Amino acid sequence: MDTFDLHPDLVPAFHAILRKARRIVVFTGAGASAESGIPTFRDAQVGLWHRFRPQDLATPEGFLRDPALVYGWYEWRRAKVAAAEPNAGHRAIAAWAQTRDVTVITQNVDDLHERAGSSRVIHLHGSIFAARCFDCGAAYKLPPPSVDAAGTGEAMDPPRCAACNGLIRPGVVWFNENLPQREWAKAEELCRTADLLLCIGTSGLVYPAAGLPQVAAQAGAPIAQINPEATDLDALADFNIRGTAGKIMPRLVAAAMQG
Ligand SMILES: NC(=O)c1ccc[n+]([C@@H]2O[C@H](COP(=O)([O-])OP(=O)(O)OC[C@H]3O[C@@H](n4cnc5c(N)ncnc54)[C@H](O)[C@@H]3O)[C@@H](O)[C@H]2O)c1
Ligand SMILES: [Zn+2]
Repeated sequence: MDTFDLHPDLVPAFHAILRKARRIVVFTGAGASAESGIPTFRDAQVGLWHRFRPQDLATPEGFLRDPALVYGWYEWRRAKVAAAEPNAGHRAIAAWAQTRDVTVITQNVDDLHERAGSSRVIHLHGSIFAARCFDCGAAYKLPPPSVDAAGTGEAMDPPRCAACNGLIRPGVVWFNENLPQREWAKAEELCRTADLLLCIGTSGLVYPAAGLPQVAAQAGAPIAQINPEATDLDALADFNIRGTAGKIMPRLVAAAMQG
């Protein structure tokens, strides 16, 4: 395993893999959107929310216990996402696809990869913009966010389903819930056939998504990781690049395109 700072071009073995790789899978987590101002769960513990753990805010049990608390948290996050812009990392990934077969598998519920121009994006954890009824599953069309994205949010009663009067919930995958089956199958297949897996801004703690790098490793793909901090994926990765997505990705993609 190689660990290096900011200079992917200084590690010849990695540079060679980058230039040769044709089928690339980019696996992103909350850190990929951090430089767009979308807080990771850890950073989202501000204001009203500092007393709550992700388990209180991102589980079906937490939602049923206190729907207004959970719904308000997601409305605040939806406003933040709507007000945010893709960062240099998202844009570099999109640019890479002009010369390579690049697919993004993301754990993020935002749409910043798409807005940066990536056309092949698999969302393992749903979308913050797709709401549905907790009881009958009917889709619910959300109005534009009414919350101040610059504020710290507040509790808000969820709307009710027109069909069954059930509570409306965000269309994200919570802890203790299953991943969407089709997306998961496609993600596994992509990891089995990739020439290179790049993990960006994910702590590697949230399963089953965190198992994808193992699928790629078993299939023999080299694995590189971009993260300013050490993570649970360090031991599995062949190359650990310590830095942020917005700083590293433009350089990495520029180096890849030299080949
Ligand atoms: N933007 C979003 O949609 C969003 C935001 C927060 C959490 N989530 C959800 O929370 C769960 C948490 O798992 P996770 O692994 O995605 O996130 P995580 O919060 O567990 O880990 C974030 C990782 O990003 C790293 N990081 C921070 N800033 C970075 C940067 N600028 N560049 C690169 N890396 C950076 C951190 O060191 C950390 O390892 C996911 O399931 C996801 O669905 C989504
Ligand atoms: Zn309903």
